[in-house]
Amino acid sequence: METTHRVFVGDSRDLSAVDDESVELVVTSPPYPMIEMWDDLFTELDPAIGDALAAGDGYDAFEAMHAQLERVWDELERVLVDGGIACINVGDATRSVDGSFRVYPNHARVLEAFEERGFEPLPDVLWRKPANSAAKFMGSGMIPPNAYVTLEHEYILVFRKGARSREFEPRADRRYEAAYFWEERNRWFTDVWTDVTGELQSIDGPADDDLRERSAAYPLEIPYRLICMYSAYGDTVLDPFWGTGTTTLAAMCAGRHSVGSELEDAFLAVFDDGVDEVPALSRSVGRARLERHRSFVDRRRDEGTGFEYEADYYDTPVVTKMERGIRLREVRAVDGIEDGYRVEHAPLSLE
Ligand SMILES: C[S@@+](CC[C@H](N)C(=O)[O-])C[C@H]1O[C@@H](n2cnc3c(N)ncnc32)[C@H](O)[C@@H]1O
Repeated sequence: METTHRVFVGDSRDLSAVDDESVELVVTSPPYPMIEMWDDLFTELDPAIGDALAAGDGYDAFEAMHAQLERVWDELERVLVDGGIACINVGDATRSVDGSFRVYPNHARVLEAFEERGFEPLPDVLWRKPANSAAKFMGSGMIPPNAYVTLEHEYILVFRKGARSREFEPRADRRYEAAYFWEERNRWFTDVWTDVTGELQSIDGPADDDLRERSAAYPLEIPYRLICMYSAYGDTVLDPFWGTGTTTLAAMCAGRHSVGSELEDAFLAVFDDGVDEVPALSRSVGRARLERHRSFVDRRRDEGTGFEYEADYYDTPVVTKMERGIRLREVRAVDGIEDGYRVEHAPLSLE
């Protein structure tokens, strides 16, 4: 099986390189309005934003930044298929503007924008960034009442385009082979993820830590999980705020097609430098899932609970009938093509 992964240097307010209704899933994390690291970028997109900030008008700046994101949300509405899903990772911002400290609720503003575009909100996920913040309460003091809570959680807002879910032909292999294990379902579909550790190895070496920080990259676990949860093999995943390409990396490991668009071309070169590591990474991701499943099987047996079903492709029992066809894949080769990569996949090797 082959997948393609296209990456464009460009402005996602115009995604004309992506056809109407050609994407089944969006997984992305935009620049967060009112977080200072993105002020210059937003000001380049609309100079009035810089003026509003300089004038101490926080609310106008917040609105104007969201107006730029909304142009990208318009494009998502166009390129997603009916029933397709959009997962938007976003955090709120706290900031003092003109001497007044407040929270700028990005998640609420994004939710409103998607609803206005006819998307149906689905239950969202909260996750906590792995961070060591010994100094996080600095300045908040020990006496009431003027200290503020530190924001450490982010949202993954989940939307479906339109009222109806996607339909598949009965017993579609590409759906059943993409099943997840019962215990994965129990972890992934909880609404607070406390187990995103950032430990899943990514292709970025130490030299690129700075770049990942500058791009506010999310851990590979986030897009990988979302792709497994909300798409089937053969689907296409779009990230219009591609950054260091974590979504594409996850799509490669998960055996989906992908497309990405990013303003800064430097990120594409760094991704390209690490692409040789994708086969090994995909194998370790797949094997870790299987390993974790085997540990779960041992624990459950120790507790005296049995299993009714056997997996078709692995020497292991599974809890439900639907998991029997699960078939993990690995990347065998990645070849550069004109606007991205062609990836060859094979069933996960266990040797
Ligand atoms: C929060 S970062 C995404 C990080 C990414 N999820 C990762 O793991 O590396 C947002 C990215 O969107 C890019 N960006 C912002 N506005 C854009 C636009 N209008 N079109 C394309 N890319 C944009 C920024 O350059 C930045 O790399």
